[in-house]
Amino acid sequence: MRQLFARKPVPELLGEGVALDTQLRRVLGPWQLTALGIGAIIGAGIFSGAGTAIAGGADHVGAGPGLILSYVLVAVACGFAALCYAEFAAMIPQAGSAYTYAYATLGELLAWIIGWDLIIEYAVGNIAVAVSWSGYFQELLRGFGLALPEWLATDYRTALHGAAQLREAVAAGVAPATLPAHVQQAAEAVAAAPHLLGIPLIVNLPAVAIVAAVTWVLVIGIRESAWFNTAMVAVKLVILMFFLAIGAFYVRPENWTPFAPNGMSGIWVGASLIFFAYIGFDAVSTAAEEAKNPQKDMPFAIIASLVITSVLYIGVTAVLTGMVPWGQLGTAEPLATAFSERGLNFSAGIVSLGAVIATTSVLLVFQLGQPRIFYAMARDGLLPGWAAAVHPRYRTPHVTTILTGVFVAAFAAVAPIEEVIELTNIGTLFAFVLVAAGVLVLRRLEPDRPRPFKTPLVPLVPLLAIGSCVLLMLGLPGITWIRFALWLVAGLAIYLLYGRRRSALRQGGQGSGVRGQGQG
Ligand code: ALA
Repeated sequence: MRQLFARKPVPELLGEGVALDTQLRRVLGPWQLTALGIGAIIGAGIFSGAGTAIAGGADHVGAGPGLILSYVLVAVACGFAALCYAEFAAMIPQAGSAYTYAYATLGELLAWIIGWDLIIEYAVGNIAVAVSWSGYFQELLRGFGLALPEWLATDYRTALHGAAQLREAVAAGVAPATLPAHVQQAAEAVAAAPHLLGIPLIVNLPAVAIVAAVTWVLVIGIRESAWFNTAMVAVKLVILMFFLAIGAFYVRPENWTPFAPNGMSGIWVGASLIFFAYIGFDAVSTAAEEAKNPQKDMPFAIIASLVITSVLYIGVTAVLTGMVPWGQLGTAEPLATAFSERGLNFSAGIVSLGAVIATTSVLLVFQLGQPRIFYAMARDGLLPGWAAAVHPRYRTPHVTTILTGVFVAAFAAVAPIEEVIELTNIGTLFAFVLVAAGVLVLRRLEPDRPRPFKTPLVPLVPLLAIGSCVLLMLGLPGITWIRFALWLVAGLAIYLLYGRRRSALRQGGQGSGVRGQGQG
């Protein structure tokens, strides 16, 4: 028991540095860090997720124009969590982010759980982003009159679901041509796909291809340098402003009524989905070891990136739902759909290009972050040493980068985006809850430790962060809770079989040295 709750002393954490080769070492200023945050934040959540949240997916209730309110509410919830992250990121500026904070406050077991949980935020999140990338990429191809065969461009579940809907409709005497286009396309994918042992081979090829490309870039060491990221961030901001500027002329206020076609429950479920759009402000904290002045700049960048993106999201959603009736926005490319529905095909093409670039940078940032978290965990002995291996020539964490790429590509090939977004959200919200709890715990255990940034109104703000994150978790479907629970159980088993025995803290080696800070 003592070991399970052993905490890693903060001074010791501060003495460690990530030895990964990096050209960004201590060069990032406040605005570059903010750009990093925006780079991680703006992506699939606004460009794709908003569609389902507005119109409602297969078994969801759409928020309609009320999604504007969902974006406001989630911004506030994330604001509470951001203030908690800011306290830790300034106090423990370490690449391991929430994993490291948990090790210092809640003990080894919870640190392991949160590290395991962050795989959901970083790697599983990237599955959804890759699928979104694929959707916009195909939209772009169509603009040039090109199209991939349907069975190479959709996910398995959607295709089979569409084929089943078509069969049912035909059995009920409905003409197939009257069914929605996405159902017809899905059924077409199953019919046209080659079969192996009677199983249709359906693969989201563009999603696999982009993950492979990003993995390759990260392995050979073309690291995301500050200017490259800043350029992609500029493109994202310009595209969203372009959408706002052109779209505003096409708003028909009558589309905003009814504002909440499914009442508060639609707004709540919508909020639980579009939470995905805000994920990433916390990823700023993984760049703590590359910040010039982390004590001051981390809190600034975390909060500034959240504020800037919130304002943009609220504006974009208002224009989006004002342009076309909300029921027509239930596509995977809602921003392009809004333009093409109003006959603005060229603008739809520009937005698609912007979305492809925006989601590429999200893929890069998160796939860069995941190996760093593995690295921090391997350094602590909770993962095997090979997880911290650095390539002799490229000097990148090639093993974990490739493993992450294989994992993301395999699932991106077959998974439907909504379910992946839901799983990512529950995992990330859970991490936020633990970080907020960590602030409360460390304030009690080490009240006098210097805190360059203090979360205001403790315990109120951390408690509000915990409460609002739990509320958003409750808006997610039961199946998501089951998947998440299974993931945590698997993680627990690995910890008990491996990490518990090999922990550097337990063995007193690898620089950790100090034991017995347990409170249990
Ligand atoms: N917030 C990121 C996105 O929406 C994960 O793509």
